[in-house]
Amino acid sequence: MNKHIKKFFEYTKKNHLGITFGDVLLVPKKSDILPSEVNLETRVSRNTKLNIPVISADMSTVTEGTLARELAKKGGIGFIWKCPDLEKQLGFVDEVKYAFNAKIDNPVTINENQTIGDYKEIIKRFKDRFSSLVVLDNENKVVGLLGRHEVRFPHKDSDLVKNHMNKDILKHEGSLDLNEAYNFMGKNRISKLVLINRNGELNGLYSWDEVRSIIENKNPMYNLDEKGRLIVGANVGIHDYKRAEALLNRGCDVLVVGTAHGHTKNVIETVRELKRTFRDYKFDVVAGNLISEEGAKDLIKAGADALKVGIGPSGICTTRIVTGAGFPQLSAIYYVSKIAEKYDIPVIGDGGIEYSGDITKALAAGASSVMMGGLFAQTQESAGERVIRDGKIFKEYYGMGSERAMNMDGSKERYRVSGKSVSEGIESNVPLSKTVDEMVNDLIGGVKHGMGYVGAKDIKTLHEEQAEFIRMTNAGYRESHIHGVLMTKEQSNYAPK
Ligand code: XMP
Repeated sequence: MNKHIKKFFEYTKKNHLGITFGDVLLVPKKSDILPSEVNLETRVSRNTKLNIPVISADMSTVTEGTLARELAKKGGIGFIWKCPDLEKQLGFVDEVKYAFNAKIDNPVTINENQTIGDYKEIIKRFKDRFSSLVVLDNENKVVGLLGRHEVRFPHKDSDLVKNHMNKDILKHEGSLDLNEAYNFMGKNRISKLVLINRNGELNGLYSWDEVRSIIENKNPMYNLDEKGRLIVGANVGIHDYKRAEALLNRGCDVLVVGTAHGHTKNVIETVRELKRTFRDYKFDVVAGNLISEEGAKDLIKAGADALKVGIGPSGICTTRIVTGAGFPQLSAIYYVSKIAEKYDIPVIGDGGIEYSGDITKALAAGASSVMMGGLFAQTQESAGERVIRDGKIFKEYYGMGSERAMNMDGSKERYRVSGKSVSEGIESNVPLSKTVDEMVNDLIGGVKHGMGYVGAKDIKTLHEEQAEFIRMTNAGYRESHIHGVLMTKEQSNYAPK
């Protein structure tokens, strides 16, 4: 953290002043940095990297499988909301993990005595995300592959798999890493490589298109785990170790212990217990939400790999109004980052992002990434239902502390309610505006331009060297938004206040 940032926030602290995005601007500085040269690589948590500092919120109208998958392809990560039905949440994790899969550890299989109709059922269940199934005999030995190519030829649904499968497949006994698989498959010109163990049982599957795309770096922004699968996070709630285990077994990279107030005994205990119970798994725990230095110390001590900051900054939040408690978001990011930095723990600024410039400000104050609900709710891939109002298309966006979410989604624990629910959020509609791809391009474009103005080639340089805030008056804020004109064409990255 550089001396300007420290001085600015320590001054506000001394004067009991809480600062948020609309209060400040980043001071432009001498700069030879072009936006196209800015590198936004960062981390979501201790061991999990991001190619862009963007996370989608674990909310029922925001992040399910499709959005999480598309965001991971752009270099970010989606946190799947805690669906009351665990199977549903696991299905969303699968949607991400099976979307782009260099080595599939547990390929979907079919028995040779099942039918083509069964094959079609299975493929439908996985929403056509892949078409090849490994065929096993009654002793669980690999005997063939059945895929799109095989079912192109005349068949009846009652035909047995063994009469249509491709028996002429190359199997490799033992393991192969990604590079070895690339060389082996390229040399032998095969599109699927089945790995087996000494007994001929299935041990994994490689797909040429995906292996090649990773090795030849065809999609450099894809945010992949070490097995070449897109990364994903999921909310596990409090003391739900059964859910945590199921999510980890499905390959979930990041578990989120996220509640409205995270500086509590329950969250601290859950973080500690997750780290202890699942110490043999490779995963990170994000803990939140918090706003203070003390909270940061306690959650880091419990084992948190990232801290999620924010109490009440979102457009759908009523926490600050209903309860009287909360904290302006930029100050909260600074306080938590001040401690987290000492332990090399990344901070996620959660909520309150309305414009791309807010992201640049959050990163400057110490966040490693930001999490967004409202902006992602507007995308075609968000989980919210479409609503038509006066001929225009909107999407539902409601707070996890709203009456609707608490009644329908069982998110009461997140808002610490027992007995009668006290709502801390509202139900709303947001305009359906764009795809995840377009949304991220607009947001990241704005951040890169901001870093160009400030003269920062990456997030570290922004926070540690270049960033300096200037406090605005109301007139300064008014001057920042469009004024004195009638906007005749909406811009994709700006909606007037
Ligand atoms: P944005 O500003 O991106 O914020 O829409 C998303 C974040 O808001 C939090 N959240 C809530 N906060 N009442 C609240 O006070 C609620 O009902 C509620 N639902 C979500 C959450 O941290 C989310 O990531």
